[in-house]
Amino acid sequence: MIELKHIDKRYDGVVALNRADLNIEQGKLVVLIGPSGCGKSTLLRVVNRMVEPSAGQILIGGKDALDLDPVLLRRSIGYVIQSGGLFPHLTVRENVAVVPQLLGWDKARRLRRADEVLALVQLEPQRYGARYPKELSGGQQQRVGIARALAADPAVLLMDEPFSALDPISREQLQDELLRIQRDVRKTIVFVTHDIDEAIRLGDKICLMRDGAVVQYAEPDVLLRQPADAFAALFIGQEPELKRLARHSVADFMRRAGTGAGGRVGGALAAGAAGAERVALHTSARAALSKLLGGQAELVVVDGAGEAVGHLVLADFALTP
Ligand SMILES: Nc1ncnc2c1ncn2[C@@H]1O[C@H](COP(=O)(O)OP(=O)(O)O)[C@@H](O)[C@H]1O
Ligand SMILES: [Mg+2]
Repeated sequence: MIELKHIDKRYDGVVALNRADLNIEQGKLVVLIGPSGCGKSTLLRVVNRMVEPSAGQILIGGKDALDLDPVLLRRSIGYVIQSGGLFPHLTVRENVAVVPQLLGWDKARRLRRADEVLALVQLEPQRYGARYPKELSGGQQQRVGIARALAADPAVLLMDEPFSALDPISREQLQDELLRIQRDVRKTIVFVTHDIDEAIRLGDKICLMRDGAVVQYAEPDVLLRQPADAFAALFIGQEPELKRLARHSVADFMRRAGTGAGGRVGGALAAGAAGAERVALHTSARAALSKLLGGQAELVVVDGAGEAVGHLVLADFALTP
C-alpha cells in the first residue's frame, strides 16, 4: 500500500533520513519507533509530502506520490499530532468537518459525517459537538483529533506521538480505542511513538529506526524474541517475555469455562477460585499475570458480561497463543 524506497532527507549538513526503506501493507498499523531525533517524524511526513525527500521514491497504492499534487495528497491522508492540533476558534464539530469542507462537501453532509465520526470515537455529538477545544480534557481533544483525521474517510492515517502528552490512564484508554476503531475501519496507519510498550501494544509491525535508517522491521513478537542487533536489544529493554504478554489479552490464554469434558474446567474453577482475583476479558495477559502473582489464589478468573467465562493458572501464561 505504501512503499518508501531509499529515502534520504538532508537539512544542510544534518542527515535526517539515510536510505530509509519501508513497505506498509494495506490495513496494517505500523509503528515507527526509535530515539529522539532518529527521523521518525520526518519519515512519517514524507508519506504525505509535508517533507519532500532529497532522494528516493514514495509509492502509495502503486502510484508515485511525487507525481501527485501535494495539497490534494495531504487532504487524502489523515494526520493526527500530539495535543490534538485543533483550531481553538472552531467548535468540535467544525474542527472535525475541516477536511470535508476543503473537499467541497455540502454543509448537511459534512455535519452528518462529523457527528458520525464523533460517535465513533465515543464523543456524544449532542454533548460535545458545539464545545470549543479548551472545554475538553486532553484525552477528549485527542479523540476529536482522531475523528477529524477520519472525517473524509482516508485510506491512510498518519499519527505522530498522538498520545504522548496524556496521563497514563487516558493514554491506555486511547490505545484501546484506537485498536477498537481500527478493527472497524481497517485503515493503513503509520504511528510514531518513542514508547516501546505502546509500540508492542498497538503495532502489527514495528519499524525500529536509528540515525535516519531502519534497524529492524518486524512483528512485535519477532522484534522481542530476535532483536537484530545490540542496539535493538537495548531499545527493547528488560523482560521481553513480559512485554510480549502485554500484547495479548487474557482471552488468548485462558481456559474457557464449560469447554472441558466432564466439567474439568468447572471443577477446577470451583476448587481454586475462592478469593481469586477477577479480570475482564480484554485485560492484558501481563496485567493478569501481575494479579495472579499478587493474589492469594492459584488462578485468576476471567469475567465476561458479569459471569466467569474462563480462568488461568500460572502455566497458561507460558503458552504461545
Ligand atoms: N526542518 C528541519 N530543519 C533542520 N533539521 C531538521 C528539521 N526537521 C528535522 N530535522 C533534524 O532531523 C533529524 C530527525 O528529526 P525528526 O524526524 O523530527 O526526529 P524524531 O521524530 O525521530 O524525533 C533531527 O536531527 C532533527 O533535528
Ligand atoms: Mg518526532
